[in-house]
Parts: sequence; structure tokens; C-alpha cells
Amino acid sequence: MKTTHKIFYQDARELKQIPSESVDLVVTSPPYPMIGMWDQVFGSQNSAIQRALKTGDAKQAYELMHELLRPVWDEVFRVLKDNRFACINIGDATRKTGDDFCLYPNHANILNYLLNIGFSALPDILWRK
Ligand SMILES: C[S@@+](CC[C@H](N)C(=O)[O-])C[C@H]1O[C@@H](n2cnc3c(N)ncnc32)[C@H](O)[C@@H]1O
Repeated sequence: MKTTHKIFYQDARELKQIPSESVDLVVTSPPYPMIGMWDQVFGSQNSAIQRALKTGDAKQAYELMHELLRPVWDEVFRVLKDNRFACINIGDATRKTGDDFCLYPNHANILNYLLNIGFSALPDILWRK
């Protein structure tokens, strides 16, 4: 089978040149909120995230990181054809900030948003690494 590919090197929050309901499958792995290696990527896109991390307001940082991803999910929903699939690779985070050690359930946060904007859920695939 012959396929053609177009590469758009750009911000996934605004995929203007991709028409609505034109895509069959989205596979994506966003930066993971509250996993340290992605702090800089989130912080560079919203200075309030940098400040929240600096002042130890982890819950605010977590919320702002997900706020930053939500326009991406809106775009994914817009460009997908009806009844097609989005496969999202995401990890939950555990992190200690000050005395507070807790889980940041990224998969639940994203799934909840996806359900609210009109997606239906299918079973997860869980990787134990
Ligand atoms: C978990 S990594 C996934 C890497 C990917 N699977 C690969 O093999 O290159 C998340 C990626 O999302 C990119 N990223 C972060 N914010 C983005 C945005 N607003 N639009 C597009 N890509 C973004 C990061 O630079 C990083 O490369």
C-alpha cells in the first residue's frame, strides 16, 4: 500500500491547516504533568507554571499543566472523523513537594476531560515498566 505523509512541525494546540473531521487516527504522547523531566517544557509555555513549581504550589502547577494540554485535546477532537480513535500515551506521576508526597493521576485527568468534550472511552492498556 502506498501512503503519503505531511509533517507539520508546530504547536499541537492549534492545528489550523488540518481540516475538521479529516483524520482517522491520532497517536500522541504529550509531556507528562508533574514528571520532573517535563517541568521545563511546561514552564516555557506558561510562566505561571514556573512560579507555582518554584513556590511549591504543586497542585496549582498540576492544574495549569493540564490546562495547557486541553487545547490539544480540543484540536484532536475537532480533526478526528466520527467514530475514529485517539491513542494517548500518558503516565501518572508521584512526587514529593515539601512534606506532601502524592499521586498526580494524569490518565484520569485527561480521560475525564476527553469524556466531557465528547469522546467515548475504551479500555486502557497498562504498561508496567
Ligand atoms: C513525552 S514526549 C513524546 C516524544 C515523542 N514520542 C517522540 O518520540 O519524540 C512529549 C513531546 O511533546 C512535545 N511538546 C510539548 N508541548 C508541545 C506542543 N504544545 N505542541 C507540540 N509538541 C509539544 C515535547 O517537546 C516532547 O517532544
